[in-house]
This record gives sequence, C-alpha cells and structure tokens, in this order.
Amino acid sequence: MYLSDRPQSFTVEPDETILQAGLRQHLALPFGCQSGGCASCRVRLLDGNVAHRLPPPALSTAEIDAGYILMCLAQPQSDLRIDLHQPADLDALRPQIWPCRVQMRSWLAHDVLRLQLKLPKGKTLHYLPGQYIDLLLDDGRRRSFSIANAPNGEFIELHVRVTPGGRFAQWAAHEMPDRAMLRFEGPLGAFYLREDTRPIVMIAGGTGIAPLRAMLQSLLPQSQRPVHLYWGVRAQRDLYLDAELTQLAQAHPQFAYRPVLSEPDTGWNGATGFVHAAALRDHADLHTHAAYLSGPPAMVRAGKDAFIAAGGDPDQLFYDAFDYAFETWPGVG
Ligand SMILES: Cc1cc2nc3c(=O)[nH]c(=O)nc-3n(C[C@H](O)[C@H](O)[C@H](O)COP(=O)(O)OP(=O)(O)OC[C@H]3O[C@@H](n4cnc5c(N)ncnc54)[C@H](O)[C@@H]3O)c2cc1C
Ligand code: FES
Repeated sequence: MYLSDRPQSFTVEPDETILQAGLRQHLALPFGCQSGGCASCRVRLLDGNVAHRLPPPALSTAEIDAGYILMCLAQPQSDLRIDLHQPADLDALRPQIWPCRVQMRSWLAHDVLRLQLKLPKGKTLHYLPGQYIDLLLDDGRRRSFSIANAPNGEFIELHVRVTPGGRFAQWAAHEMPDRAMLRFEGPLGAFYLREDTRPIVMIAGGTGIAPLRAMLQSLLPQSQRPVHLYWGVRAQRDLYLDAELTQLAQAHPQFAYRPVLSEPDTGWNGATGFVHAAALRDHADLHTHAAYLSGPPAMVRAGKDAFIAAGGDPDQLFYDAFDYAFETWPGVG
C-alpha cells in the first residue's frame, strides 16, 4: 500500500481494512466514525483494487465513479496507491484525549446550546477550522461535535442541538453542573479548508453552521477568496448567528450570506425551501467552485448530488454529515 503524497508505504493484513492497518502502524490517517457513515476517511484510489466490507454508505455514486473509497471499510484486493488529499501538516494534528472544563454554557437558540470548553492551563489544542471532537461520556459512549470557532488559544466552542431524546444534549442542558469537567478526543475529521483560490459555496443545515463559522473566522480576515454561504433552518428563530453573519458580510465584500427557511414565518421575504436548491438557483454552473457542506445527512447527500449535477468536481467537494452517534450505526466488525 503506497501513499501518493508521502514517502510511506504499509502492509495490510488479509482481515484488516486499510484504516485499521494504517492506525496499527501509527500513520496519521484521517478518520471519524469508523463505520462508513462520516466519510472522514474518504481517499482516492489511484492504482489497484479494493472491496468494501459493505456498500460505502457515505459515498454518492459520483464519488465512487471518481475513484473514492472509504478506508474504514475498504480491504485491498491488490497492491494499492492512494491519494490522501490532505496537507502533510495534518500529521502534526494527531488526535489525543484531553480533559477540559466547561467555562461557559448558554442558549444560542431555543434548542441550541453553546458550550465553551477550556483546556488545562498551558495546554493548547491545535486543530484546523472545520474539524470536530468526540466528547467521551462516562459510560464509554462518544458524541461528535464540530468546533465552532477558529483557534484562539483560549477555548473551543461547541453548538449542541438539544433534541428531546438526546442523551448528552439533555444532560448538558439540564443536569450538567456549572464548570463541569469533561473529556474529549480530538481533533478529528478531514473537514477543513483546502488552500486554493477557487470561489467557495458553503451549505449548512442547522448546527452545521458551526464548522463553517470556524472556517470563515480564519479565512475572511486574510483572504479575498469569494465565499457564498447558504444556511438552511426551519424558521427565523433558528437563525441564531444571523446578526453575526450579516455583519461579516458587511465587513467582507468577498463574502455573501443567504439564510434559507424551510418553514418560513409570515412576512419573511428571503429565500425558502431546500437549502441546496437555493444555492443551485444562484449558481447553476459550479465547475469552477469548491463546495463545503455540513449538517444533517439528508441535506449533505442532496447537496453533494446537486454540486455534481451542476458540474462540480468531486475533488473539490468537502463535507461533514452530522450523523447520530456511532452506537446507532450497524456494526461492521
Ligand atoms: C462529524 C460530526 C460532527 C457533528 N457536529 C455536531 C455539532 O456541531 N452540533 C450538533 O448539534 N451535532 C453535531 N453532530 C451530530 C451529533 O454528534 C449527534 O446528533 C449526536 O448523536 C448527539 O448526541 P446526543 O447524545 O445529544 O443525542 P443522541 O442520544 O445521540 O440522540 C440524538 C437524537 O437522535 C435521535 N436518534 C438517535 N438514534 C436514532 C436513530 N437510530 N434513528 C432515529 N433517531 C435517532 C434521538 O432521539 C435524539 O433526538 C455531529 C456529528 C458528526 C458525525
Ligand atoms: S471513518 Fe470511515 S466513514 Fe467515518
């Protein structure tokens, strides 16, 4: 097994996936759910053949046709060469387990909680804007949340959707003591801005705005790269960052922001309907663009298909689908 942009090669045993073999041999490979759902381990196969243990749930037909595979499900059927499609400095961002204190908890919207987590004195989490962490619960379960701010050396911020049956979110909203100590593993995932000059279309659903906000905080002050953000929510009360994003658009002419409501309030005269459809109405041809999508899996799936249908290049498609926690996925051994 060879990595096209690295000097490394490694061996995969017959019963292993590429990811299992790489991690066993201490390679810094991107991964998340390890069950085919998140696509953090998506790479392009340049040479050779693989068999996936099950049809790769996170990949669209267009991505499969373009040669993408999921390392957490793929088993080599021959010698392979893969394109990791990530900067070498990601190697420096190996996930670790961290203790942290909840230094601030507040409501951003009727069902979205903001948590600010502080690391022990003198410790800093290095991450790329767009990446996420896994909170480690006392019973061994984990919950993934995107980091909603660019690195500031002070704290990391999470935007947690509080659903009626949400185990962690309900606890965090109603039972968690003030200044609680938590543990997390991070940074995780391969959802971060790739250096480039192409215009960007960003599509977020609900709390999917969190990783895109982190990217915008780091990108806009230092780049003229055009960015058009579409943020889909149900109604106006869900637009919890509306004022901040409107202000960003006023301060940065290269940035445009468009909220999209699926259940518009009376009197709303902005965009309505599916958020990916609103993006497509403005950008019928996306072959020169990069796309960054995050939010509910159905929205990400629709956005991916729309981007490809509009001529988008699968190599310029980056996304995080906010799946339910890992234990709700079927086991893949
Ligand atoms: C990479 C990544 C990044 C993410 N970032 C964020 C983020 O920034 N903010 C955010 O709010 N979420 C994010 N998520 C989603 C979040 O991790 C999950 O929603 C997680 O399950 C929430 O944990 P919980 O304990 O609060 O809720 P859970 O107890 O896991 O349940 C969540 C909700 O899903 C329902 N549910 C659970 N299992 C099923 C099922 N099998 N079928 C139907 N309904 C089910 C529950 O009833 C509940 O309403 C992210 C997910 C991923 C993979
Ligand atoms: S780690 Fe492979 S799809 Fe999530």
